[in-house]
Amino acid sequence: MLVAFGVLGLAQVGTPLVLDKSATPGDIALAVFGDKAYAPAVMRATNSKALVDPTFARIPTLDAVLPAGAKVWIPEETWAKAFLAVWDPNRVENLFGGGKLVVGSWWTAGGEAEGLEALFALYRGAYADVVVVNATVAGGAGFAFKAVLKPRLIAGDPPDAFQLHAGLEVEGYSPEVYLHPLDDLYSIFGWDKVFPPDLLTLLRYQDHYWGVPVNIHRANVLWYSKDIFARYNLTPPANWDEFFQICEFLKGRGIVPITLANAGGWEAPHLFETILASTLTPAEYRGLWTGETSWTHPGVTRALEILKKILDYVNPDYSAHTWDTVLEYIAAGNGAMNVMGDWAMGWFMAKGVDVGWAPVPGAKGVFVALSDTFAFPKRASNPINAMGWLEVCGSKAGQIAFNMRKGSIPARTDITPQEKAQFNPYLQSCMDDWARDAIVPSVMHGAAAPESWVVDFKDAINLFLVTRDVARTQAALVAAAKAALGQ
Ligand code: GAL
Repeated sequence: MLVAFGVLGLAQVGTPLVLDKSATPGDIALAVFGDKAYAPAVMRATNSKALVDPTFARIPTLDAVLPAGAKVWIPEETWAKAFLAVWDPNRVENLFGGGKLVVGSWWTAGGEAEGLEALFALYRGAYADVVVVNATVAGGAGFAFKAVLKPRLIAGDPPDAFQLHAGLEVEGYSPEVYLHPLDDLYSIFGWDKVFPPDLLTLLRYQDHYWGVPVNIHRANVLWYSKDIFARYNLTPPANWDEFFQICEFLKGRGIVPITLANAGGWEAPHLFETILASTLTPAEYRGLWTGETSWTHPGVTRALEILKKILDYVNPDYSAHTWDTVLEYIAAGNGAMNVMGDWAMGWFMAKGVDVGWAPVPGAKGVFVALSDTFAFPKRASNPINAMGWLEVCGSKAGQIAFNMRKGSIPARTDITPQEKAQFNPYLQSCMDDWARDAIVPSVMHGAAAPESWVVDFKDAINLFLVTRDVARTQAALVAAAKAALGQ
């Protein structure tokens, strides 16, 4: 008799089957799937179950004859197909289940750590036989993580899956050498139908998919202290003039008007990219990364002037703060505003802080976007476990559980109104903005430019913090674009 088990609607859903006569895995595969080729999937799925439930048979080889009465696990056909797409017949150990799942990321701060843990919980629910190893390297935006990951990839000792921004960031990993193309998994799991077309375009590099997106983040949000704004009867600034009036007003009152971090060296450049998206039109901003907009544009000059002026109103200890520690200023009522991606909302949620939000001044209707994905190294030690992880990441249940803690929104387009209602008001408004705003790519988070350009951009802004020289910095940005675009 077949009994249907659903594990949260994802990941190795299957059914137990008690044999009424002796059979090999091939016989079972033929009877259930109409094709003997599914035998390895039946063997692996059954052996995985046997590790946590001794009533299941242990299948020692692909031609073993199991006696009548043996209990096997019939995986769902989707999982079985994905297994066959990933399985390497030369690695028989992958027919035995168990082992580890090593997931590399930089999600250690409030909100992002909780989101990751929610994905792990779903994974463990579906794959109780696997030990999950959380291989994080702390440091927002992943610059520290990437520096550790690259030598591991080259040495052939990578994690089983790792965090990768959608977009040109993948170029820095020589994907054709080190990563599995994921096209098969995209069509098996239907991801090519369920993610938005623009994101699918961003995810394709050299005509292949290399990562499974878990979310969409917005980079350009102005967070503000509701208490401070209410106390002084302030409203969120719609443009930079209003912003600086508020800064001037608060400066004399012992409050840090705009909090800034830069311990990671990326936070101030992140602020700068969000200013660029306010002083240029969306088309002009996009053109900066394609060569259609010159970096000599007056909108770039103005963005540098705004950043320069902001530096008069920030906490003096900004170079000692990371994106998350500086938010303590707002939580404690000592700082009024902050510009950061909406992972900050994940942090505020994790800390129980009720915070206000608005678009970065002058950028209403403009959504600076990025997406976190997981990539799959060719030399992963536990490829079947990695495949199950990617399935969880791309699943609806995974995207809901993760994003409501992470401060981001699902990348999937099939979220129902009832599911949307489970998200907090900020995230619901972000889903609305994602659907109607002009979408432009983030540079500091991998979407707009290749790694080498990102680093030049970052260095130019870090130097600017010291020199405050607008003309020299703009010239450096022009030179960086020239080097990257070969113009
Ligand atoms: C970004 C990443 C986000 C968030 C942030 C801070 O690069 O896309 O998910 O983690 O760094 O760590």
